[in-house]
Amino acid sequence: MKREMNLSVNGTQRSTLTQPERPLLDVLREDFHLTGTKFGCGEGECGACTVLVDGEATRSCITSIGEVEGRAIETIEGLEIDGALHRIQQAFIDQQAVQCGYCVPGHIMTALALVRNKPNCPRAEIVATMSEHICRCCNYSRILAAVEQVVG
Ligand code: FES
Repeated sequence: MKREMNLSVNGTQRSTLTQPERPLLDVLREDFHLTGTKFGCGEGECGACTVLVDGEATRSCITSIGEVEGRAIETIEGLEIDGALHRIQQAFIDQQAVQCGYCVPGHIMTALALVRNKPNCPRAEIVATMSEHICRCCNYSRILAAVEQVVG
């Protein structure tokens, strides 16, 4: 049964009338038109749909809107401020870490959680964390270079 669901998205209170079991990814893209978050596998494996929920990298394709009601959601659209890219976004440009770009928002959101929570983490941990994402272009070395530009 549909009900009014409320959550904070990129610092703005949003609401939508929907079923609580609907994936967060669908609500972000279809109800709020935040299409930077991508659908890849739909099974929690590829990382294309990663957003932050209360600061934690979360796969939005397997997270229901009911699970995140009242919590703070951050998407790729929330990183740019007054036309200025976040330093992680800039690092992806600097390191030419974008090929087709489809997986990049997910990579960046996981990197953002890393920057905030473990800004000086060792390379092995950066590699382990970022290896949870799939890039169909296999641009892994440049993606890693971009993340290492701001973490570690
Ligand atoms: Fe969510 Fe692949 S689309 S992990």
